[in-house]
Amino acid sequence: MRTLISAEQIAARVRELGAEITRDYEGRPLVLLCVLKGSFMFAADLARAIDLPLRIEFLGVQSYGDDTKSSGVVQITLDLTRPIEDEDVLIVEDIVDTGLTLDYLRRQLLPRRPRSVKVCTLLHKPGKLARSVDIDYIGFTIDDVFVVGYGLDHAQLHRNLPEVKVLDSGS
Ligand code: IMP
Ligand code: MG
Repeated sequence: MRTLISAEQIAARVRELGAEITRDYEGRPLVLLCVLKGSFMFAADLARAIDLPLRIEFLGVQSYGDDTKSSGVVQITLDLTRPIEDEDVLIVEDIVDTGLTLDYLRRQLLPRRPRSVKVCTLLHKPGKLARSVDIDYIGFTIDDVFVVGYGLDHAQLHRNLPEVKVLDSGS
């Protein structure tokens, strides 16, 4: 597998994103919404780069379909533990590909009346957007390749790699 984004590049970008988010929310409390499983590593690093009164929530989602293509059919496997009414929520995603998952998540969250919902994704593959989705913070824009590592998996494997790698077909 070839490295697409090194651990050092990720760390530098996470620091920039954290500083930008810290500035944008101007001291207001923030709910960091970590979308499991893929964004667990990114959310853990991003949280440490944000200097705001911060609460972390986890939302477990599982998408069905074959493993390298999003079906847009999403199931919630773990729900929030607290209401988010009147709170500023930042959804932390590992990757936005077709945008179907993010679209689904927004529709789930909006009836809970948060004060605001923004999105921060580590990776964005703009080539295949099926939904026009607003993404407020993007770590890296990548080509339409299947990547693993730094939380991202293929068949649940490779999430523990410290960098983002391109999965060779056949591996
Ligand atoms: P979307 O609904 O097509 O935007 O895809 C969202 C989900 O598909 C992501 O949260 C990932 O779980 C998965 N996904 C999409 N592309 C990749 C990839 O290149 N590697 C690993 N997972 C991916
Ligand atoms: Mg995901």
